[in-house]
Amino acid sequence: MAARQTSDIIIIGGGIVGSALAYFLTSSDDGKKVTVIDRAFEQLKGSTGNAPGFVGQFNESEVLTRLAIDSVKEYLKIPGGLDPVGGLEIATSDAGLEKLNWRQTTAKERGLEARIVSAKEAAELAPDLVKPNHVAALHFPGDGTADGAVIAAFYQSEARAQGAELLEADVTKIHRDDGRVTGVATSAGFIEAQTVILATGIWAQTLADFDIPVPVIPVAHPYMFGEHHEPKPYKSPFVRYPEHQVYTRDHGTFFGLGSYNHKPQAEKPKETAFGNWLEEFDSMLDRALKLIPEKTNLTPREKYNGIFSMTPDNMPLVGEIPAAKGLYMAAAVWITHAAGSVKFLTQMLRGETVDAVVRKALDPTRFQGQDLKSLERESLHCYNSIYTTHESS
Ligand SMILES: Cc1cc2nc3c(=O)[nH]c(=O)nc-3n(C[C@H](O)[C@H](O)[C@H](O)COP(=O)(O)OP(=O)(O)OC[C@H]3O[C@@H](n4cnc5c(N)ncnc54)[C@H](O)[C@@H]3O)c2cc1C
Ligand SMILES: *[C@@H]1O[C@H](CO)[C@@H](O)[C@H](O)[C@H]1NC(C)=O
Repeated sequence: MAARQTSDIIIIGGGIVGSALAYFLTSSDDGKKVTVIDRAFEQLKGSTGNAPGFVGQFNESEVLTRLAIDSVKEYLKIPGGLDPVGGLEIATSDAGLEKLNWRQTTAKERGLEARIVSAKEAAELAPDLVKPNHVAALHFPGDGTADGAVIAAFYQSEARAQGAELLEADVTKIHRDDGRVTGVATSAGFIEAQTVILATGIWAQTLADFDIPVPVIPVAHPYMFGEHHEPKPYKSPFVRYPEHQVYTRDHGTFFGLGSYNHKPQAEKPKETAFGNWLEEFDSMLDRALKLIPEKTNLTPREKYNGIFSMTPDNMPLVGEIPAAKGLYMAAAVWITHAAGSVKFLTQMLRGETVDAVVRKALDPTRFQGQDLKSLERESLHCYNSIYTTHESS
């Protein structure tokens, strides 16, 4: 028999969410042992490894806006973590501009710098990605692009230096006894712990045999890389075309583009957060590429289906799971909100007073009493309105 393994806190999942959580939990010297378990740490298998990393802080949800502002503050401390290139939203119609006007006013009320710029100025800010003939644009100078893999690796090594253990194994079950968590069964044996946090991203449902529905719905999402180019002598903000559900950025030596403008497609994730490329994605990319200036000559060199999670209200699930004492989760969290979300969870885990509004908005039990099938339908429906998030009140 192997020696009994124990930890105070087990985090399942070493993507940006689990890794950041390990870092913030080990940042105090409360002497608690933290173990992060993932199937692989070097080459991330989850969404964090293949996300293009757009970080737009303004969100219709006030809670998400706050979490994003907090996350950006953290990522700016990490070498290579976040490039503050700014973000541009392009209006291609008067109705689109009306939306941007609302977004600008609301963003400013929330303390974010945001300005409406002319179509010409937008094209000057991002000459390779924006034609000069649109209606107008909204510029967020404080936004940027994040490197999820760099951020996760940074938090992992800092957490390890602060005493966390990183264990490569497959977790097969969360054990509970008499209403409380007792540990997890893994491919490397049983590990005892009084506190377990699920940070398993698109795999959240696999281990969630709780008595509440966990509507973390994995969906297909197409992204493409263009041919390599010489690095530009200027940095362009990332660009979104909300009316067309298209977004694009310069990755330095190539451009990238993604789109939500297709029928939502649920996925059953296997080993990694990559799914099969769907035929309908091709015509959709063709349409999206028409938005890009011709001189850029953006053509796909590589295309992939990257899987991430949707929820019925487009909000993450972060907090306590009442099925067992000591059980928590942090899933459907975007890179944009990851550091802020896990700082909130860290306060909760330490028994500190947390912001009641954030707690309610992210509460993983908020779908209690609803059936998973309808929740899945609602989540898929949300996919096409990903630029409009509704906070439940
Ligand atoms: C194509 C694409 C584009 C995106 N664009 C953006 C964007 O522009 N901006 C943005 O903010 N976000 C974006 N996202 C979303 C973002 O990538 C994710 O929300 C975020 O990375 C989720 O992090 P995570 O740590 O929760 O999950 P993951 O990174 O998926 O990590 C979960 C980890 O859990 C591990 N795991 C799961 N089950 C087990 C088990 N049983 N035992 C052991 N380990 C387990 C996995 O191996 C994995 O490493 C995008 C995602 C994709 C795929
Ligand atoms: C707001 O956040 C949600 C959840 O992370 C995301 O799906 C949505 O795209 C965000 N909205 C904007 C406009 O960035």
